[in-house]
Amino acid sequence: MPDDENLRPGLTDLVWPRRTSRLTLRPLTVDDVDAVHAYRSDPDVGRWLGRPARSREEVMASHFTEQDLAHSLAVEVSGAVVGDMMLVVEDAWAQRDVREQARGSVAVLAWVLSPVHHGRGLMTEAVEELLRICFEDLDVRRVRAECFALNEPSWRLMERVGMRRELHGVRDSLHRDLGWVDTLGYALLADEWRAAPRLPVVE
Ligand SMILES: CC(C)(COP(=O)(O)OP(=O)(O)OC[C@H]1O[C@@H](n2cnc3c(N)ncnc32)[C@H](O)[C@@H]1OP(=O)(O)O)[C@@H](O)C(=O)NCCC(=O)NCCS
Repeated sequence: MPDDENLRPGLTDLVWPRRTSRLTLRPLTVDDVDAVHAYRSDPDVGRWLGRPARSREEVMASHFTEQDLAHSLAVEVSGAVVGDMMLVVEDAWAQRDVREQARGSVAVLAWVLSPVHHGRGLMTEAVEELLRICFEDLDVRRVRAECFALNEPSWRLMERVGMRRELHGVRDSLHRDLGWVDTLGYALLADEWRAAPRLPVVE
């Protein structure tokens, strides 16, 4: 836990690894660059990502800086990295006089899974654990994520884990190949997550 009790904990303050029935989650390290490059350089994956990652050098420069690593988790199956997730804690918007109460209250999530492993519910399992980390360990009050509306696997995943579609931006985002396209915003509140039924934690 951080020294200052007024600060919320970050990913680096938690105990790792975390296990689910099929997965191990742990902080991403520079040793994972080849595994991450293998799936992020796939055009079917890169199509939906914000930053190009065609070469190993591009992946290294855009995902393995010290700042990236502080916000990134590796998703392992049987000791092999098959995906990664991002978790950034940010302040909610607030009026100036109550701004302190909104500090670090929102977690922004993102995810990538190797196409070899699509269609098995692995990222759903990983994101369910990530929500547990957000609400139980990091104590945020709200989790949010966004995707292109055309990225149906990603928004279907958000609906599977119980997130609510809250925003539909009409042709608000510029895609490198598709031009101006729609985006969707999903979110979930801590009290909603606590009220939802779920499987017990794997020890
Ligand atoms: C977004 C992404 C992670 C979704 O991958 P995915 O394989 O669909 O997601 P999951 O691993 O959770 O698997 C869910 C699928 O497996 C099926 N499935 C099989 N067994 C399952 C189980 N035990 N539990 C849940 N789902 C299961 C589900 O029905 C679902 O398939 P469907 O959408 O055809 O119904 C993947 O498409 C990806 O990495 N895309 C590229 C990067 C990207 O777009 N990132 C997001 C940017 S915003």
